[in-house]
Amino acid sequence: MILVTGGAGFIGSNFVQQWIGAESDPLLNLDKLTYAGNPENLSALKGNARHVFVRGDIGDRALVGRLLQEHKPRAIVNFAAESHVDRSIHGPADFVHTNVMGTFALLEEARAYWSALAQPQKDAFRFLHVSTDEVYGSLGPGDPPFTESTPYAPNSPYAASKAAADHLVRAYHHTYGFPGITTNCSNNYGPCQFPEKLIPLMILNGWRQKPLPVYGDGKNIRDWLYVGDHCAAVRLALAKGRPGETYNIGGHGEMTNLDAIKAICVLLDEARPNHAPHEQLISFVKDRPGHDRRYAMDARKIRSELGWKPQESFASGLRKTVEWYIDNMKWVENVTSGEYQRWIETNYAKRGDA
Ligand code: NAD
Ligand code: DAU
Repeated sequence: MILVTGGAGFIGSNFVQQWIGAESDPLLNLDKLTYAGNPENLSALKGNARHVFVRGDIGDRALVGRLLQEHKPRAIVNFAAESHVDRSIHGPADFVHTNVMGTFALLEEARAYWSALAQPQKDAFRFLHVSTDEVYGSLGPGDPPFTESTPYAPNSPYAASKAAADHLVRAYHHTYGFPGITTNCSNNYGPCQFPEKLIPLMILNGWRQKPLPVYGDGKNIRDWLYVGDHCAAVRLALAKGRPGETYNIGGHGEMTNLDAIKAICVLLDEARPNHAPHEQLISFVKDRPGHDRRYAMDARKIRSELGWKPQESFASGLRKTVEWYIDNMKWVENVTSGEYQRWIETNYAKRGDA
C-alpha cells in the first residue's frame, strides 16, 4: 500500500480518488482534519476497503512510526500542509509546525523505516513531497518561467515553510541516500477547494451576489492548473521519477487575477442570465502584504522525462469547476459555517479599499 498525508484536503482528496480509480495498491490516508480537511471530500469512497483513513498529525512521530510498521507502505506521498498564504501572514506558527516540523518528523520516521527494509523493498521505496512554485519567489513581466534550477527565494511565511521542507527532502537524499522526490506545482483549482482561495471564493461570492474582492490592481499573474492534472503528474513522478530529483508542474495557464475572475463572471452570467453582469461585483481591496507579482512554471522536464502534460485547458477546467460548486451547495454550506466566517471577518472586514 501507499501512505498519503493530507488526503482529506483539496488536492489530497482529488489524488486519493484518482488513485483508487486508477491504481491497484490500497491507500492509507493520514490527515489531521484541520479546518481545510473534510471527510466529505472522500464520501465517494465510503465502504471501500482499499481506502483506510486515520485522523492524526504528521508531526506525531509515535503515530507515524506505528502506522509504518503496521501497514508497511511502499511509498509515502506528503500533501499535508497549511496551504493558505493569507493565513500564513496572519499567523505563521501553524505553518512552521506542520510544514517544517511536521515534514521533518515524517522524514525521520520514514528514514528509520526505510533504513530497516530488506534491499529490494528499500530500493523500491519512494517519498514524494508535494511542494509549490512559490518557493522560487516572484517573476518580473519579461522573466522566463521558473525551472528546477531557479534559486529559492520564498517571500511569504507559507512559501518559506514549504522551502524549508523542500530543503530537508533534498538534504535527506544527499546525506542518507533517502529516496525523496519533490514536485513543485503552480496554482491548482477544481472540485473540493476550500473557498478561502481565489477561484472558489469568487465563484461563491458571485453566486451569492457578494463583492468579488480583488487584491491591489488585480494584475498579479498565476499559472493555473486543473487539480486532476496535478494528481496525474504526482502519480507519474511517484512511478517513474528519479530519487533526488525535483519536477516542476505547471499549466501553461498564465493569467492575471482580473482575467481569471472575469472568466468566472462569464460562466456565472451563463448560469444565471437573469442577474446583472457578475463583473459589476468586482471590488478592489487593499493588497496582500508582500504579494508576489507573477508565477510561471517551465514544466519541460516532467514532460520530456516522464511524458506528462495537462489534459484540461483553463476554459474546460474552469467550466467543470463552476458547475461542481453550483451542484454542491450542500458541501459549500457545510464548510462555510463556523470557523470560515471568522476567517472572512479577519481577512476582509478590516481590509479597506485598494
Ligand atoms: P489544503 O489546505 O486544502 O489541505 C491540506 C490538508 O492537510 C488538509 O486535509 C489538512 O487537514 C491536512 N493537514 C494539515 N496539517 C496537517 C498535519 N499536521 N498532519 C496531517 N494532516 C494535516 O491544501 P491543498 O491546497 O490541497 O494543498 C496540498 C499540498 O499541495 C500542500 O502541501 C500545498 O503546499 C501543495 N500545493 C498546493 C497548491 C494549490 O494551488 N492549492 C499548489 C501547489 C502545491
Ligand atoms: O502557486 C501555488 C500556490 O497557490 C499554492 O502553493 C498555495 O497553497 C495556494 O494557496 C496558492 O497560493 P496563492 O496565494 O497564489 O493563491 P490564492 O488563491 O490565495 O490567490 C491567488 C491570487 O489571487 C493571488 O494573487 C492573490 C489573489 N487574491 C486572492 C484572494 C483569496 C485576490 O485578489 N483576492 C482574494 O480574495
